[in-house]
Amino acid sequence: ELRNTQVGHPTTLAAEEMHKQPFVIGVAGGAASGKTTVCDMIIQQLHDQRVVLVNQDSFYHDLTEEELTRVHEYNFDHPDAFDTEQLLCAMEKLRHGQAVDIPKYDFKSYKNNVFPARRVNPSDVIILEGILIFHDPRVRELMNMKLFVDTDADVRLARRIRRDTVEKSRDIGTVLDQYSKFVKPAFDDFILPTKKYADIIIPRGGDNHVAIDLIVQHICTKLGQHDLCKIYPNLYVIQSTFQI
Ligand code: CTP
Repeated sequence: ELRNTQVGHPTTLAAEEMHKQPFVIGVAGGAASGKTTVCDMIIQQLHDQRVVLVNQDSFYHDLTEEELTRVHEYNFDHPDAFDTEQLLCAMEKLRHGQAVDIPKYDFKSYKNNVFPARRVNPSDVIILEGILIFHDPRVRELMNMKLFVDTDADVRLARRIRRDTVEKSRDIGTVLDQYSKFVKPAFDDFILPTKKYADIIIPRGGDNHVAIDLIVQHICTKLGQHDLCKIYPNLYVIQSTFQI
């Protein structure tokens, strides 16, 4: 017999609180592996859900004047290049239903104060994307699902050359120097070791439609379970009453 009188108010609140928590997806992988394409495809397929994308790039530290004068010696692929405290702070706010202003990063000026900042509202799904988004355990702990985009090194290098020369107007010599000095070693030392934290490894990135379909199906199932909490906020109590 189910007796609703047993349903305590604090438990109901806890269940509602649980519903409000967004579903957080982490997307990591080497530079130019196709993370953005994977995120865009997931967002597109989750059309009737509220989804926001938060890029780790937005949390690059600003460079000092001295670092700016020797920018080719700066390692943008090292975990210390990112202001993880600021990322954690933004995530904390979003998880508690507050909107946040996320800085816009300018790859040409190396500055993180491009005006206006991007206003991000709390959502049902938050996608956290970046080369080293699995590096800090506190950021990993926020994630309900972790994806690693696994693309061959030659494909990543080819894409990077095209992107950096065309979109960032860098010369090919600079791109290749940065790749051998910082990008490749950082991939081996910091990015690849985080692959073990992934729940799903996606070969070929955005070209892998089957993987994206399966991932989106899983997210929908999880969000559906969240909705059950909304419709039947006492469900957890009912279950525990049965267990007793
Ligand atoms: N980077 C740079 N100059 C800066 C800041 C970052 O060249 N001022 C480079 C870093 O060297 C790093 C890369 O930006 O390797 C990280 O961005 P990347 O992962 O390539 O960008 P996404 O578009 O998110 O990647 P993807 O192609 O996987 O979508």
